[in-house]
Amino acid sequence: MRIVHVVGARPNFMKIAPIMRALRQADDVDQLLIHTGQHYDSSLSEDFFHDLELPSPDLNLGIGSGSHAEQTGRIMIALEPALQRTEPDWVFTVGDVNSTLAAALVAAKLHIPLAHVEAGLRSHDRAMPEEINRVVTDQLSDALFTTEPSANENLKNEGIEPDRIHYVGNVMIDSLDAYRARAAELDVDESLGLEPVQYVLVTFHRPRNVDSRARLAAILSALAAIAADYPVVFPMHPRTARNVKQYQLEAELAPLNVLAPTRYLEFLALMDRAGLVITDSGNIQEETTVLGVPCITLRPNTERPITVSEGTNRLFDGEPHDLVDIALEAITAPRRPCRPHLWDGHAAERIAQVTTSRLARLQPGARDRRRLASAAS
Ligand code: UD1
Repeated sequence: MRIVHVVGARPNFMKIAPIMRALRQADDVDQLLIHTGQHYDSSLSEDFFHDLELPSPDLNLGIGSGSHAEQTGRIMIALEPALQRTEPDWVFTVGDVNSTLAAALVAAKLHIPLAHVEAGLRSHDRAMPEEINRVVTDQLSDALFTTEPSANENLKNEGIEPDRIHYVGNVMIDSLDAYRARAAELDVDESLGLEPVQYVLVTFHRPRNVDSRARLAAILSALAAIAADYPVVFPMHPRTARNVKQYQLEAELAPLNVLAPTRYLEFLALMDRAGLVITDSGNIQEETTVLGVPCITLRPNTERPITVSEGTNRLFDGEPHDLVDIALEAITAPRRPCRPHLWDGHAAERIAQVTTSRLARLQPGARDRRRLASAAS
């Protein structure tokens, strides 16, 4: 059985690493890794491959940045011949970035069975590009691996047959469990002069929060007010950095401890010892839930509702200046680690088990069907 994994952006790498590791234990599985090149800076890509002990990609499509259509289209054009050449029995795609969507469209049109890891999550907010990527990818997928009950419900409501849905848990937490101890040894907080639990860790980059000058300026000003009481550590995403410069907001950063995007292990270490995390990321909502660190998510909705109902996550979409009191109160909250069902560090093993049993049975004949389809077209 040949599997081609397609990844492209930072949050994909923590998900594919445990899956590839688990599938390496299986007999008769040949794995290839294709990187689309959506993220290309070392700090968003290569450093993560190193920290997560991922093999170098077999192929890097070198696509880079662009508008949504440009980026998705360029990935599709480069990926199609790569999949024709490598003839996988299954394509695996993870998460909800543009690379995920492009891989799904190409695999489906080449009649290659498609597996989507982290399927079914819905913010029900189509203003988010990721929501569009999630909905389309799931519709095209033959196997859908889910992380939480809301995802199973969403997929059933969208007409996905239950036997295509595999509730396996959360591979992001597999990586967290695998690397937490190693991250702690780095003592990153100490090297930055931070006291454990006495600092706020911030990361945000969603277009909604950073693509308008007024909103970005108001968030930075709220963070500056928080920094009067607690150090605010802010590894800045390139999109946010680009807009801070474009809107000439550099002076607003002075009270903050701004860092370049951190490596996987450094960020995990900083999260683990933070008193509070403020973010608009998807996966950080999950990681802080397991770590028990209070998390404020700067969004009106979340596609990961279990992090609110069971975990430490709280949504905030008010005026940024109201964030200050909420943050100062949250940082004193006691730690409350929580493990939603199947967030136990073994999700990738379950994916490998389903792959070698059920998916392997579905795939015979897929190549023949593809040959017939291409002969007919
Ligand atoms: C992408 C994902 C988002 C994810 C985020 C994690 C989509 C639609 N969005 O957003 O879901 O949360 O990755 O990081 O797929 N840039 C660099 N270096 C790079 C890559 C990008 O400087 O290696 C800059 C460029 O100015 C680029 C901008 O960041 O235009 C945005 O990059 P892009 O990949 O389009 O989206 P992200 O905001 O990173």
